[in-house]
Amino acid sequence: MDIEGTTALVTGANRGIGRAIAQALAGAGAHVLAGVRALDNDHAVPAASGLRAVRIDLSSQASVESSVLELGDTQVDILVNNAGEFEGGLLERQPVERIYQLLQSTLTGPIHLTRLLLPGMLERQRGKIVNNASIIGHAPFPGATVYAAAKTGLHGFSESLRRELEETPVTLLELITPGVDTDMMQQVQEQLEPHVNTDGWDHVDPEDWAQKVVDAVNSDREELNPGGAERLAKLLPKALLDLGSHRAFDRA
Ligand SMILES: NC(=O)c1ccc[n+]([C@@H]2O[C@H](COP(=O)([O-])OP(=O)(O)OC[C@H]3O[C@@H](n4cnc5c(N)ncnc54)[C@H](OP(=O)(O)O)[C@@H]3O)[C@@H](O)[C@H]2O)c1
Repeated sequence: MDIEGTTALVTGANRGIGRAIAQALAGAGAHVLAGVRALDNDHAVPAASGLRAVRIDLSSQASVESSVLELGDTQVDILVNNAGEFEGGLLERQPVERIYQLLQSTLTGPIHLTRLLLPGMLERQRGKIVNNASIIGHAPFPGATVYAAAKTGLHGFSESLRRELEETPVTLLELITPGVDTDMMQQVQEQLEPHVNTDGWDHVDPEDWAQKVVDAVNSDREELNPGGAERLAKLLPKALLDLGSHRAFDRA
């Protein structure tokens, strides 16, 4: 899809990968709506990059609906479902309310948002949905069960919807995002620390990953894969993933 002149909505655009993707899309000529959970000082977006902040709160069914209503008649050509949350540690120690919150913001919310914006794309015969899944959606490692459930869910949603849209002009790109240097990665390392030695983990810069995302949108790829060792994680058979987890993970 030629990005120049399109309108792109990126969720979770105030920081991390979302902000980098929003800036990269603006650099490629898109009018970018930077979706933020609340329109306040804590969620400011860099105005110099030409981003326009809009409220996209994925916390509940009602907040997704009111966020889309607030967009009015804005026509979104590219929807980047980026926002998400992480929770780590053993399942039996995870607060139950966090489980519901995470699945809402990271799986149900993006599905609902897509459900609301897709009809306009189909009507205008133009659109792209970009889902920020994760390598964990293909190689679910222990210590992140609920997050893995959300991301394998987003992967299944992406595959199913991509096939469903095959005979339409609307296309879908799944991001199989590797470790990226953001607040979330810091949280992942802190929460997995008691169970896994994360010292050797590779992280890529958000801006480098965002540029790859823009290139993948431009060239209409269906999937953007990580490189290096994380690429292998996607290809390994279950038995080898089991062995790797067995060696690396300690219930402590
Ligand atoms: N970093 C990695 O290594 C990595 C790897 C694979 C996949 N990913 C995925 O990439 C995406 C971005 O991750 P990141 O590393 O950039 O994370 P991040 O720095 O923690 O940023 C997360 C973003 O999501 C927003 N968000 C969270 N809950 C929300 C809600 N209920 N409604 C609206 N916005 C909400 C946050 O808004 P607030 O500022 O208001 O909290 C923030 O803007 C996530 O889906 C993540 O799972 C990341």
